[in-house]
Amino acid sequence: MSWAQGRLSGKVVVVTGAARGQGAAEVGALTREGAHVVPTDVNPEGDCRRLDVTSEKEWAQLAAELGDLYGVVHGLVNNAGITWRARLGDVRAKDFARVHAVNVTGPLLAIQHLTPLMPPGSSIVNVGSTAALTGHYPVAYTASKWALRGLSKTAATELGPRGIRVNTIHPGFIETDMTASAAPAFREANLRETPLGRTGTVDEVAPLVVFLLSDAASFITGAEIPVDGGLTAHGGVKSISDALRQESS
Ligand code: NAI
Repeated sequence: MSWAQGRLSGKVVVVTGAARGQGAAEVGALTREGAHVVPTDVNPEGDCRRLDVTSEKEWAQLAAELGDLYGVVHGLVNNAGITWRARLGDVRAKDFARVHAVNVTGPLLAIQHLTPLMPPGSSIVNVGSTAALTGHYPVAYTASKWALRGLSKTAATELGPRGIRVNTIHPGFIETDMTASAAPAFREANLRETPLGRTGTVDEVAPLVVFLLSDAASFITGAEIPVDGGLTAHGGVKSISDALRQESS
């Protein structure tokens, strides 16, 4: 198969949370590479199909339909996610559980219902966050994304013998509705901690998803890849480097 034909030619790929933001950009990028994309969202727009990732019934319906229509699913992008910006002392158990349901139980249900349709060579991408690598302050979100890492590792181990790969990407500050709702101080603090000195765009995340779903990534599983402008690379010591640079200039 040549590149011109598309790296995902003929592959059926399900994307969750696909109505806007990173999910919508992933649908565009995957389609351009020749995939047959099944976009889903709890608030569908355009061609999106309605699917709440927390609903076991809706996953079972989707799996049955895809089984009838195509007989196979080659790719899954667990992109749907929500945040909740309560701090440790304030977060209520019900909000903690709600975030966990979407960010962790959703991907679990997706994997349980779609992997029976997946042939060897299939690929799953879970969308984590730099919050999954740090002690980010919104504790419900942070804990859920760390849990998603655990789910991804177990899934990579369990599904490897069937030839199904499972990888996790960790976006940093990406310009979407999710980050548009954050306080200005959050943006400024992020920029100070990001070596590339800017925020990222959805079109800087989607190419990594395309790569991980493609056969070019055929020996990569259980991996975690930040797409964060270097935010997590310095382990919290960028301020030291910056302070000394200022002093010596
Ligand atoms: P967004 O808020 O713009 O889009 C999220 C989409 O998920 C929406 O279309 C929403 O309707 C859908 N969704 C929410 N709950 C759902 C449910 N129960 N079932 C199905 N769909 C549901 O957010 P964005 O920024 O595009 O985020 C995509 C993923 O990237 C999320 O997992 C998020 O946690 C993660 N992420 C985002 C970052 C950012 O800076 N924007 C940074 C790190 C991770």
